[in-house]
Amino acid sequence: MSSINIALLGYGTVGKGVYKTIESHQERLQQLLGKPVKVVAILVQDKTKHIIPSKEVLFTTNFDEITRIPNLHIVIDAIVGKEPGFSYLKIAIEKGCHVITANKEMFAFHGSELQSQAKKKGVSIGFEATVAGGVPVIQTIKQLLQVNHILKVEAILNGTSNFILSNMRIEGTSFEETLQLAKEHGYAEADPTNDIQGYDAFYKGMVLSQLIFQKQPSVEEVKRKGITNILAMQIEIAESAGLRFKHIVSLFKQGEEVHCKVEPVLVTEEHPFYQVEGVQNSVSIATDLLGNIQLQGPGAGMFPTASAVLEDLIQLNRTSIVEPSFKEWTDSSETSAKWVLFCDTYQLVAFQETIHVVDRIHKKAVVVESKDEVIASFQSAYPDIEYYALKGPYESKVATVSV
Ligand code: HSE
Repeated sequence: MSSINIALLGYGTVGKGVYKTIESHQERLQQLLGKPVKVVAILVQDKTKHIIPSKEVLFTTNFDEITRIPNLHIVIDAIVGKEPGFSYLKIAIEKGCHVITANKEMFAFHGSELQSQAKKKGVSIGFEATVAGGVPVIQTIKQLLQVNHILKVEAILNGTSNFILSNMRIEGTSFEETLQLAKEHGYAEADPTNDIQGYDAFYKGMVLSQLIFQKQPSVEEVKRKGITNILAMQIEIAESAGLRFKHIVSLFKQGEEVHCKVEPVLVTEEHPFYQVEGVQNSVSIATDLLGNIQLQGPGAGMFPTASAVLEDLIQLNRTSIVEPSFKEWTDSSETSAKWVLFCDTYQLVAFQETIHVVDRIHKKAVVVESKDEVIASFQSAYPDIEYYALKGPYESKVATVSV
């Protein structure tokens, strides 16, 4: 019987997960696709660092050897960084292969070009694994929200950051210890800078932006902040006030602009992200018909990511060619919002006309209400203070609060 032949680029956590899952789920894959699925080649950087999983697989450091394989049907990209992934996938598409990628950085920057090329060549691109690990957010948007117009997306998209924030709070572990644990679990990138500085979540936001709005904001327009400035003491203060830190990407379109923010915020108990803990990711999609839908599940790790790749494999020929639809976000209620400021009382004095103190949650932390631009000027006046948007309904615990 003929088989569906796959070349796997990369044999790290994701590559291994895909290989193992193709073996463990072979029967189900055959049932779904009508043919056996075979990994015929694996591309690695350094052969000495790996155990060859089978003698029947071409294990190589040379991509040219992969391009010469006859009857190669699918190339799965499980490497990191824009290059060489982008160049390899361009060649694979040109050869008429379908491609599936888990490479968010590459796809954030080159996804649009690869998709145009794939369309011309009549092949498909699967990129479910680039956003939210195993959570089927891309297929939901593409296949299940076709009549709806998408208005806004808010999401926890970096499993490592969420794991660190949860573990520091629950276990009282230090940032460094918790990051080490995230690496051991296979959640963090080999170089975790992208995870903890918000770049990984930013790439995922860019992939969603391109998918939903067929447009991306320019890199300079996006406020991107990671979790590295959050102190254990701030997590404790927040917890005692019933608030939790979450690293969130928000995305909507107004006029011609796509607005995207990637930042840590504090959420109240009523907020849908409050209970999203550990490596879980969560994506809340606001649409005109459905209202809000929230998808949640493991955002990183070997098998959740393999799940996204293999679900893509099944969808390769079924994917709709019609772009998702969106409407502008018109809610103006966010012009004056609540914030938590970790600052000293005297720093608020000059701003008492424009920053309304709603609650004092600690001698060095207040909940305030103010416009974005006022908070920005407060931060310019005191560059060392940390401030976080407060999301979810918040009731002041005291009647009157004075500066
Ligand atoms: N390092 C990523 C994360 C892996 O922690 O979310 C999944 O993209």
